[in-house]
Amino acid sequence: MNIEQLQNKITELKKENDVCILAHSYQAHEILEIADFTGDSYKLSVDASKVENKNILMCGVRFMAETCKILSPEKKVYLAQPIAGCSMADQMDKQLISQIKEMYPDYSVVAYINTTADLKTICDVCVTSSSAVKIVNNIENKNILFIPDCNLGDYVAKQCPEKNIKLLSGGCPIHACVNTDDVKKAKALHPDAELLVHPECVPEVVAMADYVGSTSGIMNYAINSDKKDFIIGTEISIAEHLQYKCPEKNFYFLSLKLICPNMKSTTLADVYNCLAGKGGEEIILDDDTIKDAKKCIDEMIRLGG
Ligand code: 13P
Ligand code: SF4
Repeated sequence: MNIEQLQNKITELKKENDVCILAHSYQAHEILEIADFTGDSYKLSVDASKVENKNILMCGVRFMAETCKILSPEKKVYLAQPIAGCSMADQMDKQLISQIKEMYPDYSVVAYINTTADLKTICDVCVTSSSAVKIVNNIENKNILFIPDCNLGDYVAKQCPEKNIKLLSGGCPIHACVNTDDVKKAKALHPDAELLVHPECVPEVVAMADYVGSTSGIMNYAINSDKKDFIIGTEISIAEHLQYKCPEKNFYFLSLKLICPNMKSTTLADVYNCLAGKGGEEIILDDDTIKDAKKCIDEMIRLGG
């Protein structure tokens, strides 16, 4: 089957089986084309809580599918590609953070949504890259333990100077690879381009950017800008999607190191196989995990809404 035939089969199967397909913006173009909802982690988690279909198929990474299951426990939630984890989400577990919480009993634990469902059960509130500053500002407590991404945490701390924010040394190994030399090289090649970066990049790179935001934030900024040239400092798929959406503008990768193997592991064939009952994985979480993890996701939606 060619891409179009596969897409048509997927469209038929998702109607037949009452499935809603969610795709993160880092997914390939042909997957975004067959999705019912696309966007950043925050938008997808809110969309997931509103869908009426009996089944949800997540094209993204495991923590995103877990978030859908927590928000819609009565639905069957599938991850199209079972090996699609997130290197950042796998860095910190419940045991480690429980010990650190004991050392800082007066701190509110703010967890980036890129964490496991199990870890979320002991956190106070979740944030995403697009909602972190607003949510941290809205938390009453001045003392915040921000996990796991120290780069996003540093960005938030700079935007919320009245808060006392403690960071741990976690983060996205893909975004953290990009350095100021990469920025200098890209700017030398494209001197008129604006630099748009994700806050998972290191603070020195963030400091050189014209705009800092989530995957959707970067896309909206570039689409609505009067400027013509942009260097995109997040997973390379964002520059590719923008080139489709704005053919009259030019989008350049900040670095070819910005390829997330987890996000890239889902193919259109995986989506088809999952819908046809030949692949994918149903997300199963026990009732206590769902109940406890839901508290910090509900708090995210309440404080970020
Ligand atoms: P967004 O919150 O911008 O969707 O980012 C998720 C992510 O995994 C970035 O690496
Ligand atoms: Fe996780 Fe980084 Fe990939 Fe985002 S880019 S899914 S944070 S490994």
